[in-house]
Amino acid sequence: MNEQIVKRAFAAQYGVADAAVFAAPGRINLIGEHTDYNGSFVFPGAIDKGITIAIKPNGSERIRAFAIDLNEQATFGLQEEDAPAQSWARYVFGISRELIKRGVAVGGFDTVFTGDVPLGAGMSSSAALESAYAFALNHLFNGRLDKFELAKAGQATEHHYCGVKCGIMDQFVSLFGKANNLLLLDCRSLEYRYFPFDPQGYRLVLLDTLVKHALASSAYNKRRQSCETVASAIRRRHPEVEFLRDATFAMLEEVRHEVSAEDYNRAAYVIGETARVKAVCDALERGDYETVGRKMYETHSGMSQLYEVSCEELDVLNDIAKACGVTGSRVMGGGFGGCTINLVKESLYDSFIRTAKEQYLARYGKEPRVYDVVISDGARAL
Ligand code: GLA
Repeated sequence: MNEQIVKRAFAAQYGVADAAVFAAPGRINLIGEHTDYNGSFVFPGAIDKGITIAIKPNGSERIRAFAIDLNEQATFGLQEEDAPAQSWARYVFGISRELIKRGVAVGGFDTVFTGDVPLGAGMSSSAALESAYAFALNHLFNGRLDKFELAKAGQATEHHYCGVKCGIMDQFVSLFGKANNLLLLDCRSLEYRYFPFDPQGYRLVLLDTLVKHALASSAYNKRRQSCETVASAIRRRHPEVEFLRDATFAMLEEVRHEVSAEDYNRAAYVIGETARVKAVCDALERGDYETVGRKMYETHSGMSQLYEVSCEELDVLNDIAKACGVTGSRVMGGGFGGCTINLVKESLYDSFIRTAKEQYLARYGKEPRVYDVVISDGARAL
């Protein structure tokens, strides 16, 4: 469907019909939040929603881009000083620049894109945008970058052109995702493993608070800074500690009086989260979804109380899930708004969704949006 939308829009915008079409997905993350930039593990999966683009080289040195959903057009060059003002266009510009820096001979092109990952809902719409263009430009301009390099280029786009010092989870899974599989990724070595995910008798569902987060709003970068501060304090005593991933609670105790209480709490969350990802992997191998769910609740309370990236609406949805007997629930993604991810028994699904909608509506005057999760393939040509 989106394929038709972008083809039609491309023809209307540029008067030619033979554009190539590419798509890249958003993601969920079962567990392992704010662990990627700590060199640790994440457990995401690509979803059936994302960004679809139509694109054609135009033989010039300029990019003409049209954001269908915003009805906005931007035209810009490919040199560092040509950065466009619109934030959506900076992703297109940034990924082009990052591919050029990596030796791909990106020239001018015309493009349109549309998305069905909600913006700012913690499902990585921006990574989907970066990955779609990374994949397409590498293909169209005969680049030889592998998907690892494309993921790094997407991450570098966030760092250098969008002001978010993100980790690599979102771009990686948007490129490497595989239908019906979660991806266990070691964010230090980039070794990964697919995990078939078919929880018999359970469903994964997202509830969107409709609170929009703004990751760039320094809070995210500040969390990362706290982690680096504590890691370097620990490293002074334990040179083998490269990232918080390598630290233990005992090491953290040793530096308790050298770091702020806030930084201490941030690090305590990350060390706990690293252990939780491993526990969830073991539990999944055994088909033990009760343990998976318990760990999800632990992550939520860590993100809410220690890492402080939750918000009232997310906490309310988490409490409702708990009261309904949902197996696992937590804030997903960077936080500060967006969705909870819920692991719920089939038999409880309808009553949970009904209760969540009723109670959220009564409190906030609107219902949370509900997204059933379908784990799908990564970036591709259509
Ligand atoms: C955002 C970032 C990711 C990751 C998550 C939190 O989605 O882009 O790199 O840090 O937040 O797990």
